[in-house]
Amino acid sequence: TVLNCGHTAFARPNLVRPWNILSSLPLSTPSLLGLGALASAIAYWLMTRPRPMRPSVDLQAQSVAVDGDPCCRRSALLPDNKLQDFYYEDSKTAYAIFQRGIKVSGGGPCLGYRKPGQPYEWISYTEVAEQAQLLGSGLLAKGCQSNSSQFVGIFAQNRPEWTISQLACYTYSMVLVPLYETLGMEAMVHILDLAEISLVICDCEEKAASLLENKEKGVSPKLSCLVLFDEFSEAFLERAKKCDVEVLKYELGRENHRDPVPPQPEDLAVVCFTSGTTGRDCCHLHNYCDLIIIRQVSSGFVVIRHDDVSISYLPLAHMFEQLMQVTLFCHGARVGFYQGEISLLMDDIKTLKPAFLPVVPRLLNRIYDKILGSVTSPLRRTLLNFAVRRKQAELRSGVVRNDSLWDKLVFKKIQASLGGKLRFALTTSAPISPTVLSFLRATLGCVIFEGYGQTECTGGCTFSMPGDWTAGHVGAPVPGALVKVVDIPEMNYLTKNQEGEVCIKGPIVFKGYLRDPERTAEALDSDGWLHTGDVGQWLPNGTLRIIDRKKNIFKLSQGEYIAPEKIENVYMRCVPVLQVFVHGDSLQSYLIGIVVPDPEVFVDWAKERGIVGSHQELCQNPDVKNAVLEDLKDVGKKAGLKSFEQVKDLYLHPEMFSIANGLLTPTLKSRRNDIRRVFQEQLSAMYSKTTI
Ligand SMILES: *[C@@H]1O[C@H](CO)[C@@H](O)[C@H](O)[C@H]1NC(C)=O
Ligand SMILES: *[C@@H]1O[C@H](CO)[C@@H](O)[C@H](O)[C@H]1NC(C)=O
Ligand SMILES: *[C@@H]1O[C@H](CO)[C@@H](O)[C@H](O)[C@H]1NC(C)=O
Repeated sequence: TVLNCGHTAFARPNLVRPWNILSSLPLSTPSLLGLGALASAIAYWLMTRPRPMRPSVDLQAQSVAVDGDPCCRRSALLPDNKLQDFYYEDSKTAYAIFQRGIKVSGGGPCLGYRKPGQPYEWISYTEVAEQAQLLGSGLLAKGCQSNSSQFVGIFAQNRPEWTISQLACYTYSMVLVPLYETLGMEAMVHILDLAEISLVICDCEEKAASLLENKEKGVSPKLSCLVLFDEFSEAFLERAKKCDVEVLKYELGRENHRDPVPPQPEDLAVVCFTSGTTGRDCCHLHNYCDLIIIRQVSSGFVVIRHDDVSISYLPLAHMFEQLMQVTLFCHGARVGFYQGEISLLMDDIKTLKPAFLPVVPRLLNRIYDKILGSVTSPLRRTLLNFAVRRKQAELRSGVVRNDSLWDKLVFKKIQASLGGKLRFALTTSAPISPTVLSFLRATLGCVIFEGYGQTECTGGCTFSMPGDWTAGHVGAPVPGALVKVVDIPEMNYLTKNQEGEVCIKGPIVFKGYLRDPERTAEALDSDGWLHTGDVGQWLPNGTLRIIDRKKNIFKLSQGEYIAPEKIENVYMRCVPVLQVFVHGDSLQSYLIGIVVPDPEVFVDWAKERGIVGSHQELCQNPDVKNAVLEDLKDVGKKAGLKSFEQVKDLYLHPEMFSIANGLLTPTLKSRRNDIRRVFQEQLSAMYSKTTI
């Protein structure tokens, strides 16, 4: 079944089949063999003649200026300026989308898993919904509330139970909070605290134990219940009991059945903690699946069918992978999970034969390197390059296919290594090199979309338009977003050149950071525009190119631009310095700083300079301060800092900036606005007393 719901799917025109005519002629005599061969050659050529696909919009005008402002644009797929916030009337929440999947698939296969070397086994849509109800009812029986003030943690690798747990939360309007290892334990403790999470679902005893350890240390006092997918030991149960934590099996029993309490589109669905540069958490509403992909793929010739398979291996804790799954469920398609080992991923892909592959540039680069590395002889290298160039020429005229002569001769093995059924892939999360992208579009013979976005806008705000197989841009705005660029005068990115900071508005934009109105106000301005910190440029054909990242840059009153992070990185090399924050603004003519001395060396370092005292005392000693200041200036000078880039005064702070005291992000970057706020008094004192 092709589920294109009102949109014309791309259909190949009926082929003229020359051999039907040939077979009606008496051509069986051997003397006519030559003619037969010629006829087959013509037939083959007709069969494999490239057929350009018609894109759904004019590729030279992929986005449309809104209200006459060429820097504020919307998708050309929309009939007017009204943004799209859902695609199917019956699927306005993640829960409803899954219900749609049940209908469309007829209760067919949904989630797949495999044991090493075995084929995939499938859990059906109906079973997934049933298991989710069982688990959800069990959580309610354990005292969870069926509304969006209930936060439930999940700390597990991708596997069917992850998705089932998520659906369990959605079925009863609870909010899921994914945790993952690379956040680090300190950040996780902070998250559990912030969201007041008492119950965390874990995959294995090891992960559960790491959370339990915090409870034992008294740092996450609210934790009172752990639910485990895997078996756990008696010893673990005992250990948990000692600190008042209940440990439960994932199968919570049938006796508690409760009817679903479906969420509303405006209810909170998930709180995602980003691992990107901001290191913040984002709240997403239930309609977070604003169907970016659904709209894009259904508007052209790539259509998701209910028998399509995709593979889940990118972390489900991130918005991108959640969005992928929701998109597939909406169409009743299947999701197979990798075995949990990246080294076995290629085997899982080969076995699963996915039609759709979500990827990150890192994986595409690896495939690219592998293909090039496997072709060693100069002759084969020449053939490969030639074939790639032929296919790229086709791409430029809009043809994507895997059945050309070159596919049969050169690319067959490569395509087979990905299962041989790939129709499209989607790459986001980081920029991909245009060379790799167009090489792979040619060799894999499938559609590869590129998207751009961040967690704060549900993963994607621009997306390459089906039919545009050029590289070097991130496509046009999705139908759920307005995208504009605004001036960054200090970096000389100006809207008069169609350049500036990328800002996003629309239903795909997040609700805010959890319990943090202040930071929410920094990211979302009063008109509801999300400021991404990325620098973009509109291209003449309405696509966006990301060209830079907005840095923390400000001007001093004498007009010099300052990049404080660059200066901090230099000062970090000073022996007594553990952390440093450089401050200044356009009302001041010079910089000042806050230095956290390194407790391991500071006392000895001061002693060498003839000053004795405890860490605390030294921080208050003006002579020590001056010695540190001299050291900074010395190191700064050697590193080539200009004199206006050097701090003129500093404050020694004995206590580290940390995630717990709110001065570092979970990715250990300075929260600059918070540091400024916390040290406001010290900073203004320095400016009022120093005379230079
Ligand atoms: C959620 O349910 C609990 C108990 O029924 C109630 O106290 C709380 O106010 C509800 N929260 C919301 C946001 O409705
Ligand atoms: C070629 O693409 C079609 C879908 O467009 C797919 O069904 C087929 O399996 C692919 N063949 C190979 C060899 O990749
Ligand atoms: C859109 O413009 C960019 C930059 O000029 C170019 O690289 C790309 O090929 C164009 N796309 C199409 C479909 O013309």
